[in-house]
Amino acid sequence: MTKTAPVLLVHGGAWAIPDDMVEVHLNGARNAIAAGWSTLERGGSALDAVEEAVVIMEDDEAFDAGRGSFLNREGKVQLDALIMDGATLRAGGVGCVERIVNPVRAARKVLSESPHVYFVAEGAERFAHEHGIELCRNEDLILPREIERLRKLQSSSAQRDDLFAPTISHDTVGAVALDSSGNIAAATSTGGTLNKAPGRLGDSSLIGCGCYADNQSAAVSTTGWGEPIMKLVLAKWAADRVASGNLPQWIAAEAMNYLRDRVNGHGGIILLDAQGRFGLAHNTPRMAWALKTSEKLEFGIERK
Ligand code: GLY
Repeated sequence: MTKTAPVLLVHGGAWAIPDDMVEVHLNGARNAIAAGWSTLERGGSALDAVEEAVVIMEDDEAFDAGRGSFLNREGKVQLDALIMDGATLRAGGVGCVERIVNPVRAARKVLSESPHVYFVAEGAERFAHEHGIELCRNEDLILPREIERLRKLQSSSAQRDDLFAPTISHDTVGAVALDSSGNIAAATSTGGTLNKAPGRLGDSSLIGCGCYADNQSAAVSTTGWGEPIMKLVLAKWAADRVASGNLPQWIAAEAMNYLRDRVNGHGGIILLDAQGRFGLAHNTPRMAWALKTSEKLEFGIERK
């Protein structure tokens, strides 16, 4: 059987990443590539690779995922994640979890060990625990940096529009991969938006919004301001256009135009099809990304 050449592409958020944070973002993206790529090199599946890549970024405090995420308006971390297998369309999602260090691992358990697709809040935590995932305290996920960030925001007169501006951090993380069997997968994980209402769910863990994968179209992960992305079901929108024969790079750029023109949204997207053709784009000043194929490692932060 002919083997497909693997490809792995990750992002670590799209916003006006300041100069002094560029290096940590690029390091985080490169570390995620190293973990995901070593999985692919060992013959692991695309699904395994995106899980491992996203775990690295959840563990990295530079990003709005896992420990170090933004706090909601009550000072708690609430995390969302989704993982999807393009070969089978199996998907697993968790939303509003407060006691899981790596929500993408819980999402993978949902995908692999449940007839359901999505669990939220305490039900998701109970499911994760029953399937071997250790629960932590919410305090374990909170950094002093984030307490201070929330305090500053709540004591300022920042308007809603300021809060959702591209200058405010959108550090949702994600990965798309193609494995040697020719299958693609995607995963996305986030702490959501700063000062969000308790129970607010963003785009990241919703199928077709922040994440999607189908061998017949594309694997997609988005980042950015969640509500506009959800309104457009943007990941599925982009995947469908790849299925219609458009090149992923063209569709990535088109998705960002559509996001801006239709709902005044901002963010970024990574896309990969089962032939290894990929695309990435953002309509924010910067997006941290990294790409690995058998021939090259590329990474960047400015517009492609
Ligand atoms: N894109 C992350 C969120 O809005 O929740």
